[in-house]
Amino acid sequence: MHERDLLQQLLGQPATPPPAPTNAGTPLLTVSALSKRYGRTLAVEDISFQVRAGEIVGLVGANGAGKTTVLRCCVGILRPTSGTVTIAGYDSVQQEREAKRHLAFVPELPNLYPLLTVAEQIEFIVRTYGPLPPDYAARSEALLTRFDLWEQRHKLTTSLSKGMRQKTAVAAAFLHAAQVVLLDEPLIGIDPSGIRQLKDLILETRAAGKAILVSTHLLDTAERLCDRIVMLHRGRKRAEGTLAELRQQLAAGSTATLEEIFVELSA
Ligand SMILES: Nc1ncnc2c1ncn2[C@@H]1O[C@H](COP(=O)(O)OP(=O)(O)OP(=O)(O)O)[C@@H](O)[C@H]1O
Ligand SMILES: [Mg+2]
Repeated sequence: MHERDLLQQLLGQPATPPPAPTNAGTPLLTVSALSKRYGRTLAVEDISFQVRAGEIVGLVGANGAGKTTVLRCCVGILRPTSGTVTIAGYDSVQQEREAKRHLAFVPELPNLYPLLTVAEQIEFIVRTYGPLPPDYAARSEALLTRFDLWEQRHKLTTSLSKGMRQKTAVAAAFLHAAQVVLLDEPLIGIDPSGIRQLKDLILETRAAGKAILVSTHLLDTAERLCDRIVMLHRGRKRAEGTLAELRQQLAAGSTATLEEIFVELSA
C-alpha cells in the first residue's frame, strides 16, 4: 500500500487517489526504431517505445545496455544512426528547436560550469531550453529550498559536493515548463532527504500531465515509482510493460520482483 494511503487510513480518512491529468494518455515521447552506432559498436538497435502524458517509465538495463545512449538521442546530444524521436509531436532532428523547448534532461554526470554560481548555473541551463518562465524567481526559490540549495545559491559550482552538484542539475531540469522530463540515474549520490524530494517531484510532475523517462539501476525504486518499465539488454529492447505484464511474460501467476525479472530476462 502507498505510504500516503496508509497514513490516511491510520488517520481515519478515506484514501483519495490524485486526480488523473486531463491530457493523460497522449504520447509525449515516441522513440521509433532507434539505432545508434559508435564507430563499429552498435550500442542501440531498433528500439521503439512511448511515454504518455501522466506516465513515469523506467529505463532499466545492465551497464552498457544502452540507456544513456537512448536518452542522449532523445535529448538531441547524439544524432540517431537511424530511427526517430518525437518530443511533444516535434521531430528531435528535423524540428530540433521546438523539440528541445519541450524537454528537460538530468544527465548521468552533471556538467556544471566552474565560473558560475549555483543560481547562475541553474538559470543558464533553464535558458538553454527557452525563455525563463514568468514565475521563475518564486519557483527557483521554492525548489532550491526543497533541495537544501537555497543557502548555497551564491557558491561557485566548483565548491559543491557531488550530491549538491546532482541536486543542482535536478533543480534546473524541473524549473522549466517541459512536457517531457528525462533523467539519467538521478538518484545516485543524493542524500535520503533529497531522494524523497526528487521522488515527490517526479510524482507531482506526473500529476501535472507530463511524461517522465528515468533510467535507474535501483530496481526496487523503479518498481514502486514507475508505471511501466522498458528493459534493455545489449542494446535491444528485451521487455516492456507494467510490473504485472512483465511478471506475466516470465510465468503465469508469477509474483516475482522487478529484480528477479531483470535477472531472469538478462540471462
Ligand atoms: N562515446 C562512445 N563511444 C563509443 N562507444 C560508446 C560511447 N558511449 C557509449 N558507448 C558504448 O555504447 C554502449 C552503451 O553505452 P551506454 O552508456 O548507453 O550504456 P548504459 O546502459 O547507460 O550503461 P551504464 O549503466 O553503465 O550507465 C556500451 O557498449 C558503450 O561501451
Ligand atoms: Mg548510463
